[in-house]
Amino acid sequence: MKKDATTNSFINPEPHVIISCRDKDGRDNALSIGFIANVSFNPRIIMIAILHTRYSHHIIKESGEFVVNIATEELKSEVEYLGSTSGRDTNKLENISTTDATLINAPLIDMCPVNFECRVVECLKPGTHDVFFGEVLKVHCDEKYLNNNKSINWDKINILHS
Ligand SMILES: Cc1cc2nc3c(=O)[nH]c(=O)nc-3n(C[C@H](O)[C@H](O)[C@H](O)COP(=O)(O)O)c2cc1C
Repeated sequence: MKKDATTNSFINPEPHVIISCRDKDGRDNALSIGFIANVSFNPRIIMIAILHTRYSHHIIKESGEFVVNIATEELKSEVEYLGSTSGRDTNKLENISTTDATLINAPLIDMCPVNFECRVVECLKPGTHDVFFGEVLKVHCDEKYLNNNKSINWDKINILHS
């Protein structure tokens, strides 16, 4: 027996990841998101949905580049912090270690075991959020989670989710 649930429902669980980016003056920022999905085999494309009011929004719109940093359960407080303060008011990455990405101009968040370097190929606004479609140019993975064939052993990664 099924009854109507509210259409306000989201698909759950959703992964909680950190999106990092760099503005045209070289200032880095990062925010947490839950609205993310794989959308293409070849090229590999990931979509992320960001409200236009987020400070990161204009950075990604202008630079056309972002990094998807996979967060683990151990990073819950960092994800809360990056998802509740704005780069408009503070340098959120001041005490968070980063490394420059290789193929794009953005920071990788070191504490995240997997980082996807992405370049925006399209942007749509189907509803409240702008959806950035990013082609995956490079993937970095902590060697302890890499299989011999360079695939990622996701079973070993304790992904943070809702
Ligand atoms: C777990 C979590 C998930 C979030 N998911 C999204 C999301 O999918 N899209 C979005 O625009 N904001 C999302 N937010 C809110 C932003 O991370 C938050 O507003 C952040 O402070 C924006 O930072 P910025 O202004 O520096 O860009 C989420 C926050 C948290 C804690």
